[in-house]
Amino acid sequence: MSSGFLHQRSLHNPFSTQFYTSPSSSTNSKKSLSILSPTVLLSLLSLIVVLGVFSPWLGMPQKLFFTSNPAISKWGHYTLDQALTFVAKNGTVIVCIVSQPYLPFLNNWLISVAMQKRQDMVLVIAEDYPSLYKVNELWPGHAVIIPPVLDVEASHKFGSMGFFNFTARRPSHLLKILELGYSVMYNDVDMVWLADPFPYLQGSHDVYFTDDMIAIKPLNHSHDLPPPGKKGRPYICSCMIFLRPTDGAKLILKMWLEELQMEPWSRTKKSNDQPAFNWALMKNAKEADLYLLPQEAFPTGGLYFKNKTWVKETKGKHVIIHNNYIVGFEKKIKRFRDYGFWLVDDHKQESPLGGL
Ligand SMILES: *[C@@H]1O[C@H](CO)[C@@H](O)[C@H](O)[C@H]1NC(C)=O
Ligand SMILES: *[C@@H]1O[C@H](CO)[C@@H](O)[C@H](O)[C@H]1NC(C)=O
Ligand SMILES: *[C@@H]1O[C@H](CO)[C@@H](O)[C@H](O)[C@H]1NC(C)=O
Ligand SMILES: *[C@@H]1O[C@H](CO)[C@@H](O)[C@H](O)[C@H]1NC(C)=O
Repeated sequence: MSSGFLHQRSLHNPFSTQFYTSPSSSTNSKKSLSILSPTVLLSLLSLIVVLGVFSPWLGMPQKLFFTSNPAISKWGHYTLDQALTFVAKNGTVIVCIVSQPYLPFLNNWLISVAMQKRQDMVLVIAEDYPSLYKVNELWPGHAVIIPPVLDVEASHKFGSMGFFNFTARRPSHLLKILELGYSVMYNDVDMVWLADPFPYLQGSHDVYFTDDMIAIKPLNHSHDLPPPGKKGRPYICSCMIFLRPTDGAKLILKMWLEELQMEPWSRTKKSNDQPAFNWALMKNAKEADLYLLPQEAFPTGGLYFKNKTWVKETKGKHVIIHNNYIVGFEKKIKRFRDYGFWLVDDHKQESPLGGL
């Protein structure tokens, strides 16, 4: 039932691209310089890579490597406050949170956002330095890192403690943005925009969200928080949320953090952050002004990708499609391709990240 995200190990080692650039060029050097022979160089490179992966001070090799380049290292000191000042439009930002293996999905999502001309207000919250530098190199100022930086390798496997720690940072990041006075739309990057969602944020509610349930609702369904399901709570998706910088919205995020503390990760539950978000919404529904977005515009992937009849009936009304109710990078990419939503194939040049 949870909106399990992209649960797989990294596609490639974060360090491999940086350190593995040109072993062939080293072969040009004279044989006599045996210390620089390709074999020795390769072993050295492998050692660096291995150290990078297994070192307990993860992140350090990256920092050491990048601080030698002043143009790049400046992004390491780029603060959330500075980033928001730069990207926010009308006091509002669109954010996503990514680590390196998610970059292809970031690119795909961004293309769809750019098609609605909303890319200028996107801020990418990077959870590792390679992602921070990559995005800012291609699209200066649009990525920021919020310390402390996490153990990247540990965070990719769905159900793992590292993955839980990764998703638990979401309410904390969003709260920081609200406290700086901005409205924020959060999106998972395994989503694709078919239309501009902003016209759907009607009224002046504190928190807007979508239902992750597959049950079909009438077109005129209520915008209140849905009643609790079998687990004693609703099944609101933590994948797409819009929050205004109000006391009500801040309360929900604080309670979400509190729920995560109360129900921390356990091996048996394989938890993610979505249940805690739902408890926070349900327990504080009177203190905060909540708004459920229309299902026909923001359907769960469990409905959109599984009921062709419904999709036909609601044609032209879809706004954001979430590639959930499926696990794994390859499967998600294949499904997006099958539906013509893998925009990276044909619309690469429309991405602000260009040649990523
Ligand atoms: C800017 O924000 C105000 C208040 O939230 C809203 O009414 C207006 O439509 C927004 N303008 C744009 C261009 O989004
Ligand atoms: C997750 O967070 C807990 C509590 O902050 C910490 O003890 C643990 O080492 C972290 N685990 C990983 C894999 O990041
Ligand atoms: C939706 O429409 C039906 C029939 O037109 C009506 O009976 C129902 O009360 C409406 N529901 C809401 C939440 O407005
Ligand atoms: C699929 O959608 C149609 C049209 O809305 C609906 O009548 C039908 O019950 C749905 N099927 C399932 C399995 O939910």
